[in-house]
Amino acid sequence: MATILKHGTLLTASETFQADLLIEGETIAKIGADLQYPNAEVIDATGKLILPGGVDPHVHLDLPMFGTVSSDDHYTGHKAAAFGGTTTVMDFVVLEEKGFQYSVDIWMKMAEKAAIDYSFHMNLTKFNAVIAKEIPSLREMGITTLKVFTAYNGRLRLDDGSIFRALQIARDNGMLVMAHCENGDVIETLTEQALAAGHTTPEWHALTRPAWGAVESLLRLAGMASAADAAVYIVHMNTAGEVDMLKYARERGVKVMGETCPQYLFFTVDDLRRPDGAKWICSPPMRTKEDNARLWEGLSQGILQTIGTDHCPFFFDGTKPIVYEGREVAIPGKELGRDDFTKIPNGLPGIQDRMPVLWTTGVRTGKITANQFVAYMSTNPAKIFGLYPRKGALLEGSDADIVIWDPEKKVKYGVAMSHQRTDYNLYEDWELTGYPEKVFLRGQLIVDGSEWKGKQGMGRFLKRGEGEVI
Ligand code: URP
Ligand code: ZN
Ligand code: ZN
Repeated sequence: MATILKHGTLLTASETFQADLLIEGETIAKIGADLQYPNAEVIDATGKLILPGGVDPHVHLDLPMFGTVSSDDHYTGHKAAAFGGTTTVMDFVVLEEKGFQYSVDIWMKMAEKAAIDYSFHMNLTKFNAVIAKEIPSLREMGITTLKVFTAYNGRLRLDDGSIFRALQIARDNGMLVMAHCENGDVIETLTEQALAAGHTTPEWHALTRPAWGAVESLLRLAGMASAADAAVYIVHMNTAGEVDMLKYARERGVKVMGETCPQYLFFTVDDLRRPDGAKWICSPPMRTKEDNARLWEGLSQGILQTIGTDHCPFFFDGTKPIVYEGREVAIPGKELGRDDFTKIPNGLPGIQDRMPVLWTTGVRTGKITANQFVAYMSTNPAKIFGLYPRKGALLEGSDADIVIWDPEKKVKYGVAMSHQRTDYNLYEDWELTGYPEKVFLRGQLIVDGSEWKGKQGMGRFLKRGEGEVI
């Protein structure tokens, strides 16, 4: 079975050019002028852009939290991702007492319903001699990344000594440490004080997690990475100071890379002050307009490397069902913290929103170029996480994960258009120009306009190798 995309404009992280593209089976077979192939289906892509499928390096599907679970599973989240142009996602395995293999098996089981390709990072939330010895076994499982936390005291956080050891072990085994940077001690103290003073509303989630904690934590991680001669990837960067510190460290040769997420480019602590402020609760929190602007600069100037979503949706009101694929679904959500911000599940939706929202707000406004868009959304995460050039590339031999992007398509975006399984969308009523028209996963058409052609179980686990430091 072959398909030729004719007369489109190919858009990669470094080039924009006119060519036909031949898909044969699961891969890109040829790129060139006037391609012919016997009995191939021909799709006319005149006026359209051809992009490599998006690679979202940061999602949380089926994540248990605060007595509930993130409301997209490994099928619904994948389907939503595909409608937004993303064909590969990376989730985080929760580390259980019984060790790495046991924990990975749980995630593998949940992901049997995968609809797009996926891989896993391991949350390194405990550290001792046994765990240290077992880290290299993750490599054989195709999991080459470890997420560490400098926050969530008593739950997920590791002390600096353990993080430093993890960096050394990662360095010695071709692995990469990813870091959630906030100051856990400051957060713990401020939260206790806020609750004691009777402050229970959503804005206190942000007020108890100061930006300087993220800034000093990022610099601390960069310092430790430098001392270990290891690389580190900073997840969900959200403050201006972090961009400054990333630049500072990179200019001094530290192997540090940074990810931001769409929500940190648009929203502020003021959104948490709205009557429905719980919708914007995630960690780290929304900051200020100045932070939004500096993160945009970080993207324009190439200081940052990727845009992930940190997709971790919860219902705003999980007592009221929504209809998803013809069935009523209600999953407890943000209402759990109606009287106490510390009980609001942390996280928000975004897996489908990422590429369409960033095309309109980034590329069309000139804040980033179309090639930077491809780099941040697809090629850079594929390179950093050891999937390039199988993913993130329009090259002969690469997986035919392809988006036909209509740069002129106008949509009024929001929950009605979204396949994210939750009852709200952060970009409700935003007017977007530019949207995926067709999406292919390994040569198979999975999204055709508003029609879903994918299915549960067609997504494959991707064993990852060593990534690049870019
Ligand atoms: O609030 C968030 N981001 N929840 C997911 C967990 C994390 O730290 O990324
Ligand atoms: Zn995190
Ligand atoms: Zn996350």
